[in-house]
Order: sequence, then C-alpha cells, then structure tokens
Amino acid sequence: MDKIDTLRDHGLFDAKVPRYTSYPPANHFREGIGPRYQAHWLDAVPQGSDISVYVHIPFCKRLCWFCACRTQGTQTMRPVEAYVATLIDELHRVRDQLPADLRMARLHLGGGTPTILTAPLMESLLDAMFAAFDRPEDFEFSVEIDPTEASAPLLDTLTDYGMNRASIGVQDFAPEVQRAIGRPQSFAQTRAVVDHLRARGLESLNLDLLYGLPLQTARSFGDTLGLVRQMSPDRLAIYGYAHVPWMSKRQVMIKDKDLPDAQTRFALSEQARAFFTGDGYDMIGIDHFARPDDSLARAARDGRLRRNFQGYTDDTAPTLVGLGASAISRFGEGYVQNAAATSAYQARIAAGGLAGHKGYRMRPQDSLVAAIIDDLMCRFALDERALAAAFPAQAAVLRDIVRGLLATFPGLFRIGPGGLHLEEDAHPLVRIIAHHVDSFAATGQAHSAAI
Ligand SMILES: C[S@@+](CC[C@H](N)C(=O)[O-])C[C@H]1O[C@@H](n2cnc3c(N)ncnc32)[C@H](O)[C@@H]1O
Ligand code: SF4
Repeated sequence: MDKIDTLRDHGLFDAKVPRYTSYPPANHFREGIGPRYQAHWLDAVPQGSDISVYVHIPFCKRLCWFCACRTQGTQTMRPVEAYVATLIDELHRVRDQLPADLRMARLHLGGGTPTILTAPLMESLLDAMFAAFDRPEDFEFSVEIDPTEASAPLLDTLTDYGMNRASIGVQDFAPEVQRAIGRPQSFAQTRAVVDHLRARGLESLNLDLLYGLPLQTARSFGDTLGLVRQMSPDRLAIYGYAHVPWMSKRQVMIKDKDLPDAQTRFALSEQARAFFTGDGYDMIGIDHFARPDDSLARAARDGRLRRNFQGYTDDTAPTLVGLGASAISRFGEGYVQNAAATSAYQARIAAGGLAGHKGYRMRPQDSLVAAIIDDLMCRFALDERALAAAFPAQAAVLRDIVRGLLATFPGLFRIGPGGLHLEEDAHPLVRIIAHHVDSFAATGQAHSAAI
C-alpha cells in the first residue's frame, strides 16, 4: 500500500479533529473555573520563576472572511483606547495576585491586530507592562502584525521597546484568492513592512501562510511561495485553513464550491513542505518551518519543542499569563480563559475582580494525556520510559494507551530506544493519532479538517 492509501485509510481526508494547541482543547473548558481558581493559581506560581505573558487585542479595521480569531471590527480608536485602559487595570490586578519575585521572560501581543494601536497608546500599554514585571537579559518580545495596518511610527515604537520577533500575516498573494477571502494585501505593502523592520534591527521574522484557501491552485500557491521566499523569513507558519463557519460567522462569505477538496489540500501542504525544505528550512512539527540556526529549529532538534496557542514554540515556561478578552492562562494546575466578549471582559474588570471565566482543572490522567499529545505533536514520538517516570501513578493507563495505539495504527510506529516513533510518512496523521488518545474525543464538537 502506498503512502496516500495509508493516509486515506486512517481518515486523513475525512476526519475533523482539534489542532491540539492545548489539552484539553479549549472547547472543553468549563464555566466557572475562573472565579473559582484563578486567584489561587496566580498565587501559587513559584517565587522566582520566569513567566510568559500573552496580551490579546481583539480589534481590526478590516475583517477578513477567512479569519477564525477572536476579533471585532472598528473604524474608530475610541473602543481600542477604552480597552487598553481596561487591560492596564487587569494587568495591575493580576500582578498584585502573583508573587513579587517574578520575571517576564516573554511577551507576545496577539489578536486581532495589535498594530491597530497608535504609537502613544502602545507606549502606555508597554510602559505599564514593563513597570509591572522585571525582564531577563534574553527577554523575547513578539508581535502579530497586519502589514496593511502598521504605521511607521507604531513599528518604530515596537522596535524601540525591544520587539525582537515579528509575525506578519500573509496568507496568500494571489489576487483571486485574496478576493475570495476578503483580504487585499499587496506584495509591495508586505515587503515594505519587512524592510522597515529589518532596517530597525529586527532579529527574527515569521510569516503566516495558509493552504486550503478558496481558489488556491498548485500554480497560484507556487507563485505565493516564490514571493515569500524573496522576503527570507527566519520562520514560517503554514497552517491548513480551518473552515468552521458554525464558529466563525464571517466564513459564510466563503463559498463551499471554491474550497479545494481534501486531496488538493494535502497536495498544497506537501508542495509547501517540498518548497521550503528544498530551500534549506527545517520542518517543525506539522505546520512550521525554521532556518536550521533559528531557536525554534534548535529546540526541535534538542527535544525542547512545545505547543502553545500560536502553534509551536521553544518557550518552556510552565506559566503563561493571558491578559485581555478571551485570553487563556496556563498554570501547572490547569487553564483559565478570560470572558470572551469584549464587553463581558470589561464588565468583569470594571466590577473590581479578575476576568477569568471558563477553564479546566487538570486531573492526574489529563496531565499524562497532555504530555503524550505534546510528545506526539512536537516529536512524533511517545517516550514511554520518560512518561512512566514522570507519572508513576498512571503506569497502567500509559500501558493501555500504548497498546491501543499499536493496535489501532499497525505499522505506523517504529519501536526504538526512546519508545514509539511515528514513521515519517505517517506524520500528517499525528492529529488523528492524538485524537485517539484524547479522553474528550467522544464528547467532542465538530473541529477543522485533519489536513
Ligand atoms: C490572529 S491572526 C492575526 C494576524 C493579523 N491580524 C493579520 O491579519 O496579519 C494570526 C494568524 O491566524 C491564522 N488564522 C486565522 N484564521 C484562520 C483559519 N480560519 N484557519 C487557519 N488559520 C487561521 C492566520 O494565518 C493569521 O495570520
Ligand atoms: S486575519 Fe488579522 S486583520 Fe484579518 S480579521 Fe483576522 S485578525 Fe483581523
């Protein structure tokens, strides 16, 4: 049987499974966890530790039809200004709850479009962040940038304040694809932002692309890949377009008939893989690429790769503090997600409390499954010995999971010194394999395509 038949037989072209940016996936978070646990878990963050901070900006001037991110359109800055004031209040409240002796090792501004902020508004937010937390020498500061909504003064403010990693949304450069996803954006506009940031000394540039978009063909995608190469990014995230119109209402603007079928999606993802690995990039996990000397590639080689809500990361801090509407915090004990609607988030902060609403408190078995899924998604492996040592009370569960995987996916794993290793041809199946281990799978809602 050849590779494509194996992938088809295991459901690659039909399955709808989570992307496993967390375990459990956020659709299994439960109401009320925030009010019950958030303050305790903030309190319990170990003294002297390094934490990561994520700040969510849920505003965009344009609303692209394909976008599944939590954001809302605005043509004026008034709601953004009010929101930043709330963010600063939340920051102070969260900081008061955390131990005094902490450092912020990483800060990521995501959205929505963080670059919608004016330069003075960004300065007020960053002044508050840097006053609240000490930072180590190797502090990493990354920002998601829409190149059509990023003024030169704002970009200068970000680099002046130490932004050393930028992530620019490209998606696709073909004009017919851009029309079909409601996102006009020229190569010249994108290139100008890249050049501006590089001239200001930016250390690392990531570009986001999507495969599986309406009207995308091998030829049009090849043209996009060629233009992307001209910008020599240090990293790329090439996600499969998640068509989930029941969750993201904007996507009803995208016509089903224009979407490539599952085999074409797979071919597009393989095209991107061949293009960038041929160009000297390392493939990282299922959908990222990095230059071999980039820290993400080094982390992948050293077994330090992790999943976070943006995809793959070399951030190993156990605590991630999320600020802003819908932002998710990760603690050793579990997850807390802030109220998702901007108005509900602002009401909670105005009422004097924290903004945590939904979340999940990890049970020992969940922590084992989370570690297995991390191992699979990040290393295409399952290190039975290391997991048994880390979760001694879960030895029987671990044995059952390993047995179940070998029985359900015969021939896909090689057994070696570090446990089970997924054969390279089977890597595209890893989300389906993770779903098999997922204890929540039976109660799952509809997810996005497995490829
Ligand atoms: C939160 S968006 C912010 C990007 C920024 N506002 C921009 O437009 O450039 C981050 C990334 O999420 C990805 N994304 C958004 N919607 C998606 C979807 N439906 N499926 C897969 N990836 C998606 C896109 O690649 C996008 O660049
Ligand atoms: S892709 Fe970016 S600009 Fe477009 S709606 Fe999503 S967050 Fe906003």
